[in-house]
Amino acid sequence: MSPSARPQWLADDMARIEHLLFEAAGASQLALVAEASTHLIKAGGKRLRPALVMISSRAGEPGRRATDLAATAIELVHLATLYHDDVIDETETRRGVPTAHAKWGTDVAVLAGDYLFASGSALGADAGGEVPGILARAIAEVCEGQIAETESAGDPLRPVDDFVDTIGKKTGALFRASCDLGAATAGASAGARAALVAFGAHLGLAFQMVDDLLDLTGDPRITGKTPGTDLKEGVYTLPVLLACRRQPGLAGRLREGRRALEDVLPVLESTGALDEALSQARLEAAAAEAALGSLPATAWRDALQEVLDGVLAQVA
Ligand code: IPE
Ligand code: IPE
Ligand code: MG
Ligand code: MG
Repeated sequence: MSPSARPQWLADDMARIEHLLFEAAGASQLALVAEASTHLIKAGGKRLRPALVMISSRAGEPGRRATDLAATAIELVHLATLYHDDVIDETETRRGVPTAHAKWGTDVAVLAGDYLFASGSALGADAGGEVPGILARAIAEVCEGQIAETESAGDPLRPVDDFVDTIGKKTGALFRASCDLGAATAGASAGARAALVAFGAHLGLAFQMVDDLLDLTGDPRITGKTPGTDLKEGVYTLPVLLACRRQPGLAGRLREGRRALEDVLPVLESTGALDEALSQARLEAAAAEAALGSLPATAWRDALQEVLDGVLAQVA
């Protein structure tokens, strides 16, 4: 859902979160810390995870302070993962601006990422209840996913199940946690909370599958990121894994280091691997939609559906 298409209640919620984000990330008296930590917040971003917290909170009693704090915290955690991910992936552009390490070097980027993790954790502690635990477990899972990705880099014959497990951790964890935080802080029923968590898990998988397609076929003016980064880093995503199964010669060429996007893309197209990867993303989206089925037909359920539709619309 683009910010302009948000219903008024959600726009109001997100305006409060925006204020809290700048307050938390910009709190340091040290100018460089405040500047580096707010750099990507100023640059934009979709704010999908806090929006999921706020929408999910409508399953219970909305408007609690703990929900606002949890929504802000999960975006700070997400930002922290982006700072670190850009160091790992050696990328120069994010949200259409230079990455933190491109601007200030790796040391500042890593430490600003740490600062954002800590700022999110502090807000989580202020929120209390289940929030710190949900956040901490999600952070641990993201780290597991990122380490699993690093471990498997360079292997074009990696099992597809393994790949899906990894993206469920590195990306799915924060989507799941977002829905869980909304439900938990609003005191939603156990049934609604379970449905929201299942929705978040499948949405997260669909989201990363779409992001991976965009890394191969997306327009950098829209994504704000450099295409072909995954291939360059030897991170073989679903289209590449599927194409290598259909045309083993591709795996050999990748292993020899021939990983330029313009050479690989035609094979992904001719083998039908791009289409199949998109079908897999659509299957995850369908599973997410099915999870919504047990929730009451409400404006907030429609809003979740719109988030899901918006993710898939990027590759329609
Ligand atoms: C980027 O997430 C990191 C991934 C999990 C692919 P988003 O695409 O939600 O990034 P922003 O917040 O909109 O910049
Ligand atoms: C990174 O996945 C997910 C996390 C930040 C944990 P990607 O490496 O695909 O994310 P982008 O494409 O750089 O945003
Ligand atoms: Mg990356
Ligand atoms: Mg990506």
